Amino acid sequence: MTDMEFKEKLDKLEHIINEHKNQQGALMPILHETQELFGYLPEEAQQKISEILGISMAEIYGVATFYSRFTLKPRGKHTIGVCLGTACYVKNSQGVIDKVKKELNIEPGDTTDDGLFTLEATRCIGCCGLAPVMTIGEDVYGKIVPEDVPDILKKYQE
Ligand code: FES
Repeated sequence: MTDMEFKEKLDKLEHIINEHKNQQGALMPILHETQELFGYLPEEAQQKISEILGISMAEIYGVATFYSRFTLKPRGKHTIGVCLGTACYVKNSQGVIDKVKKELNIEPGDTTDDGLFTLEATRCIGCCGLAPVMTIGEDVYGKIVPEDVPDILKKYQE
């Protein structure tokens, strides 16, 4: 997003905050709309919310980090999830996630510089029969070994 687009979104957010500000429990719906608008909760947006609602940045941060639906960093185009649940873990999902980290040079929670991938370590996603499982967006890859990772990633890099 360009600086201009970012600024327009901030203006829009100001409008949203003002619409909600007299409601009780306004913070949650505002954070939700902020997440929708930007795809994450930028610091500038948190500041605006803090100023208009008169609540501290620490409080906003606390709520934002408590709920997994909120993210504080921009997300990549594709989210890679590697399951570290028990069934996957015993089938070497740690090896899989280590390979993704190495290939993309990022840690879980981070996004690649080109904005293509965000990596997440997840809990059981209910596909234990396919352990170890890696997901990319809606796509599920099961029974994989670390050596499969580069070819799978390539599909999304083209
Ligand atoms: S433990 Fe990985 S899908 Fe269940």
